[in-house]
Amino acid sequence: MKPFDIVIVGGGGAGLYAAMEAMKTNPALNIAVLSKVYPNRSHTSAAQGGANAALANKAKDDSVEMHIFDTIKGSDYLADQDAVDVLCSEAPKIIRELENIGTPWSRMEDNTIAQRPFGGAGRPRCCYCADKTGHTILQTLYEQCLRKGVLFFNEYFALNLSVHGSRSRGLIAMNMKTGKVEAFPAKTVIFATGGYAKMYWNRSSNAAGNTGDGQAIAYRAGIPMKDMEIVQFHPTGLRKSGLLVTEGARGEGGYLINKDGERFMARYAKEKMELGPRDLVSRSIETEILEGRGFDSPAGKYIHLDLRHLGADLIKSRLPQIREMTLNFEGVDPIEEPIPIRPTAHYSMGGIDTDNFGRTVMDGVYAAGECACVSVHGANRLGGNSLLDILVFGRIAGHTAAEEAGKFEPGSISEEDLRESVEDIRARMQPSGHYERYGALREELGQTLALNVGIFRESSLLHKGIQDIAELKERFKKVRVFDSSDVFNTNLQQVLELQNMLDLAETVAVGALAREESRGSHTRIDFPVRDDEKWHKHTLATLVDGKATPGEKPVTMGRYELQERTY
Ligand code: FUM
Repeated sequence: MKPFDIVIVGGGGAGLYAAMEAMKTNPALNIAVLSKVYPNRSHTSAAQGGANAALANKAKDDSVEMHIFDTIKGSDYLADQDAVDVLCSEAPKIIRELENIGTPWSRMEDNTIAQRPFGGAGRPRCCYCADKTGHTILQTLYEQCLRKGVLFFNEYFALNLSVHGSRSRGLIAMNMKTGKVEAFPAKTVIFATGGYAKMYWNRSSNAAGNTGDGQAIAYRAGIPMKDMEIVQFHPTGLRKSGLLVTEGARGEGGYLINKDGERFMARYAKEKMELGPRDLVSRSIETEILEGRGFDSPAGKYIHLDLRHLGADLIKSRLPQIREMTLNFEGVDPIEEPIPIRPTAHYSMGGIDTDNFGRTVMDGVYAAGECACVSVHGANRLGGNSLLDILVFGRIAGHTAAEEAGKFEPGSISEEDLRESVEDIRARMQPSGHYERYGALREELGQTLALNVGIFRESSLLHKGIQDIAELKERFKKVRVFDSSDVFNTNLQQVLELQNMLDLAETVAVGALAREESRGSHTRIDFPVRDDEKWHKHTLATLVDGKATPGEKPVTMGRYELQERTY
């Protein structure tokens, strides 16, 4: 295959924006997007609530500076302030750019782009398309990429980078339609593969495909992961499935109610109430449940999200997907009854360590969106800053790669590299002797993470989690694939995804044990206080000679000094 200038791994918002921008920067470049699913099925489509931008349509006194401050405070001062400046300053431009290329933003009465309040934000600045914002953005971007002639390789599963010396020669991936392992020689590779919160299995809002493939490939290639221990739990996952009920539901005025009928957030965030930042609201819900003020059911304990007072018209027009989902997955109509919810693993703040231009430490390898850690979210991301992140930093990574591709030699992937990838897979496909089944391990991984590396963490729990993950990794060596077909071998794909999740889960649990403080979403009951002296820093995890090696990096400060975080 002719070498590519840029191979983008991932067809969600970050990958598609990167492709669109790279084409715009240099239309002569040979650019490919590889996607595990059809791009318009990427997890971006599940982002409901919206994207933050200080347009000042709803609150006339909003400003980029307020957005910057809210983001830094929300991050519990772990975000890099220069990166946050970029995120928030670019936000109004990118929302308008999306409007110009066809995103159907919801409107206010004066026909300007509508904005709703979101958690941890001082002003209502979340721009939305009803409760299907990610879906509409994804359709817009995909359409533009097709229009510009981006080449898509859909239903390809990324396996490895081909690394020689200090640089990558391209990507090796499996064509799921044929089972063939193929080489994608490339001058540059951009990872835009999304998050890894599906490792929490059914205690997660994530799509089945959010298995951290890009992070795991980069990690195995020796690229450092940053702040992996910091995982966000969204306050309102559906009780049975963990599926997301957008923060927009509380932004529109929804209440959280315990079994005694109390709006209990008054106890935890007097001023912000239900619109406190996610870490705080999730901890509050869990505390209500742990202290016996939750509801009980065979499907587990839960709290009520009550939307009834908003009325049928508002629910139908601004939260139609929420109504559809709660009807389908809980059998509850939110117009008539409160929604049973419980916090759900939602977002990985950690990821591939990049600079503000999307570069990693490896020449020619870039990352953007949830799979990257720039870091704009620090220890707790604000709702509405994730869609913004994928747009702003997807665009930046696409631009940087297009500008820099000319610096690198055309990639070439050796037959030996390809053979190694194929052999790894073949070995899995020969069941013999004692073997383990993928499904059991996947579920056990989710259980131990939810129990031991969840919202409230503590040394003995984390030790147990680390031990469980080590045992699962041992047992994984015996996992075999029982589907011998070449065509859409989803059993093989799931096994390879499990390997990625196990590698990353280890970095999450080990990092969580090491960080002896509570900051943002990382809550240690044995170290309940934020410890700026020892822990105001990013953690790194790098695979060196097959062993996870810890490291650290300073936080880039700016105009805002460390302060106590209250809401
Ligand atoms: O609640 C939500 O709609 C999720 C938004 C986000 O994660 O940014």
